[in-house]
This record gives sequence, structure tokens and C-alpha cells, in this order.
Amino acid sequence: MSNPSLLILPGDGIGPEVMTEVKRIIDWFGAKRDLAFDVEEDLVGGCAYDKHGTPLHDDTMAKALQVDAVLLGAVGGPKYDNLDFSVKPERGLLRLRKEMDLFSNLRPAQCFDALADFSSLKKDIVAGLDIMIVRELTSGVYFGEPRGIFEEGNERVGINTQRYTESEIDRVARSAFELARRRNNKVCSMEKANVMESGILWREVVQKVRDTDYPDVELTHMYADNGAMQLVRAPKQFDVIVTDNLFGDILSDCAAMLTGSLGMLPSASLGAPNADGRPKALYEPVHGSAPDIAGQGKANPIACILSFAMALRYSFDQGEEAARLEAAVEKVLADGVRTADLLGEEGVTPVSTTGMGDAILAALDASL
Ligand code: IPM
Ligand code: MG
Repeated sequence: MSNPSLLILPGDGIGPEVMTEVKRIIDWFGAKRDLAFDVEEDLVGGCAYDKHGTPLHDDTMAKALQVDAVLLGAVGGPKYDNLDFSVKPERGLLRLRKEMDLFSNLRPAQCFDALADFSSLKKDIVAGLDIMIVRELTSGVYFGEPRGIFEEGNERVGINTQRYTESEIDRVARSAFELARRRNNKVCSMEKANVMESGILWREVVQKVRDTDYPDVELTHMYADNGAMQLVRAPKQFDVIVTDNLFGDILSDCAAMLTGSLGMLPSASLGAPNADGRPKALYEPVHGSAPDIAGQGKANPIACILSFAMALRYSFDQGEEAARLEAAVEKVLADGVRTADLLGEEGVTPVSTTGMGDAILAALDASL
């Protein structure tokens, strides 16, 4: 049997720095847990544009469709702000999501005990928080047509379209209910059915999927603006939240910050299962390319490392090894190891990106 295959796309900004730490972790699993991967590396985003004039080369796209999982760092940077929309770094990521048909984006927001003081919210509101946002990722206003900037009379008009088919809503709802069954069996669906027809359809279809196939799962509905408010008021009321592409983008940043730093949150983007039962999958941190700190060794690699833990769990059926890696991260945080995004305690000197990698590797060694 050949090793499972990974395509690594470090991308721009802090992407390469945090991915360097992930590669050390991957090597550790190969050397110490007999879990070797065939790893290939390629370009995405601004660096791909610099080399090929496109944020995602067709060959890279083809590789992404062949491998067992893709790991991505981050894309974008101020250098690319004035590029035409069609070749912006972000388009590379959106093309991967669309062509791999990664409709279900899992964004867990978990508050590590050691970091409960770092949240901008009071400790008792976030301590022990463990919620999962399931964001639809291949449709909605990100992809709907018509879109563009058009002339209308003597001025221009910018147009984007929110569009959802029943089957698109159905499949992401199912993935949320399946997840809920493995957690606390509760789903809250968020839309704006009070002002949007697509929201009315969303609500109807999610309810129908629940009533037909998941009657054991508790389902509630909430308008997305109220959802944002509830997330900062009493986030622990939620278990799984399912929502569309744009609301999911916004609500997941909000949820991520509850946990103290955007530098902590991983994500998994999953498609339909292949013949071998393995879903098409891409794993990436929720944070962006952070150009302001890129290249300085300040970035927190934990979000990217935990994204690899999600790959172990969701692509490679290695739940125990994923838990080992998550426990190593938790141990390091409990020991007070902090990157610069996690400062605030008296007398703590931050470690570098590599220093955090070293500490996690040491905790992994100690776990054997
Ligand atoms: C995210 C990001 C992306 C998005 C950008 C980089 C295109 O914000 O993954 O949340 O809007 O989906
Ligand atoms: Mg976002």
C-alpha cells in the first residue's frame, strides 16, 4: 500500500512560516508513529501569480484533485491589492474550493482553558466553549451570477447574487446533522429569512432534512444578525451552527475571536466522499496571511497545526493521533508557551513561530 498523499500549498504572508512548522509535525508522525505521507508542495495565491500570472496554475489544480488531502497556509497581501479581480490571490483559494466541490466547511471554535483570559469576553462566558460552525462553501453570494460592476445610466452599479438551490442546502444541512450526532445533537441554522427569499428556502430545506432523516437532532433557526449577537452574548448555547457562505465567513471570524486569538483556529473543507469513502478535502487555518507580521517569526502556527490534526481525523481516520496532536498543543499552552498574539500575562516572553513548533514537538515526544 502506498502512503496517503498530501499537497501542501503554503501560500503568502505568514503561510510559509506556519507551514514550515506543520511539515516538521508531519515528519514526526512519519518517524515516530509509522504514519508517513507522500508530500508534494506547490504555489497558490500571490506567489503563484508572481511566477505564473495566475493565482492557481492548472497543474496545481489537477494535483489538488488527485491527492488525498490539501493543506493550505494563507493567501493574499497588500502587494496584490490593485490586481484585476480575476487574478487576485483569493481567487486561487476560491477556485480550489469550487472545483474540488468542498461544500462543507467545518470551523470549530474551542476555548483552551489556558487561554480563557485572552478572550475579549469575560472568562466565564467562554471557558469550556466548544462549538462548530458549518459554513456552506461553494455557492451563495461568493459565486452567484450575475456579478460584476456595470454601467447603469450615468453611474456604475455593483452586483452580486445570493443564490442557493435546494440540493446545495440539503447537502450542507446533512453534513451539519451528521456532525451534531457525534457531538451534542443540536443544530442552529442561521439565515435572514425575514428579508431574503434564499433565507426562506434555506430554512424550509434544513427543517425538511431534519424532519425526514434526523428527527433525533434538535434543530432551531435564528436570524444571522441575532446569531452574531448571541455568539458574543452567550456562545455556549450553541453546539453546531449551519449557515451560508457569507454569513459563515463573518460568524466564524466572530466565533474565532471568542477563543482569544485568530491564530488558534483550524478549519476543514470537505466535499462528497470518493469511491474509497474519503471525502475530497482541504485543510487551512481560519486566519489570513497577516502581511503586517510576515517574515518576522512572530506568527502563531497553532491554527495550521490543528488543521493538520483535522486532516488526521477527517481524511485519514486517525482520530487517536489527531487527539494526540491536540493534546500536545493543549499541554504547551497550559505550560505557558505563548506566541506574540497571545500576550497579556505578566512577565511572559513570547516564543517565535519555530519556538512554538519546538515546544509542540517536545510535547509529542513526551506523549509516547
Ligand atoms: C476565509 C477567508 C476567505 C473567504 C477569503 C480569503 C477569500 O476570509 O476563508 O474566511 O472570504 O472565504
Ligand atoms: Mg473569512
